[in-house]
Amino acid sequence: MFKFSSNVRRKIFVQSSTKFITLTSFKGGVGKTTSAICLSCLFSEHGRVMLIDSDPNRSATMWASSQNLPFHVATENTATRLMAKNHFDFVVIDTPARPAEAEMQELVEGCDLLLLPTTPDSLSMKAMALTTQSLPKGTNYYVLLTMVPPPPQKDGEDAFKALHEKEYPVIKHGIKLLKVYKDAAALGLPVKSVKGGKKAWRDWIELAKLSPISELLNSVTS
Ligand SMILES: Nc1ncnc2c1ncn2[C@@H]1O[C@H](COP(=O)(O)OP(=O)(O)O)[C@@H](O)[C@H]1O
Ligand SMILES: [Mg+2]
Repeated sequence: MFKFSSNVRRKIFVQSSTKFITLTSFKGGVGKTTSAICLSCLFSEHGRVMLIDSDPNRSATMWASSQNLPFHVATENTATRLMAKNHFDFVVIDTPARPAEAEMQELVEGCDLLLLPTTPDSLSMKAMALTTQSLPKGTNYYVLLTMVPPPPQKDGEDAFKALHEKEYPVIKHGIKLLKVYKDAAALGLPVKSVKGGKKAWRDWIELAKLSPISELLNSVTS
């Protein structure tokens, strides 16, 4: 299934300005789909976006089914056709957990930025570390800390410290743990459109100012 992103690039090479952003992890439940949807909402404020749902569970497709999201959601099967007919500035790829090593190679080959969402707990952080070990040398990847519990809990702070000590490239702002994400998924809406969602959306506005997201956004607006 991960052959998809590099194959699409090869087939639709004319869209060379399209930025491919893939979210993956060896572990499920770390916020890949939620982050893929929120990033697609963010990118939609700067250009045309397609989200490719390559998870057989089709969580992103279900979130989008009410047709209230500001971007296209495709599967591997429909994406090539959509790309042939439309120009997209950003293609965001949501993946299932546990890609095999060979699939990881394909996945990385086809993307401009690989995001590894992880929650701050030790099991998730270990899974993230294992994921990085399977990446080809020189992969442009960043860790995205998700579901960070509110202060006075120190999980987020501790996780950032551990990531810095081990010199992982990490986006310098974590996504807060907030119930509104579940509401947004259930209602099929962008998180900022849900009651109480403005606080959650502020995290994504913050991300837009930070590397490597800011560079991606600048690449289409400049
Ligand atoms: N920042 C967050 N705050 C609270 N709940 C979240 C957050 N991000 C994700 N969730 C919830 O955690 C669960 C797993 O998230 P999901 O994005 O589906 O992970 P994955 O795609 O990695 O399996 C979902 O129920 C989702 O609503
Ligand atoms: Mg998912």
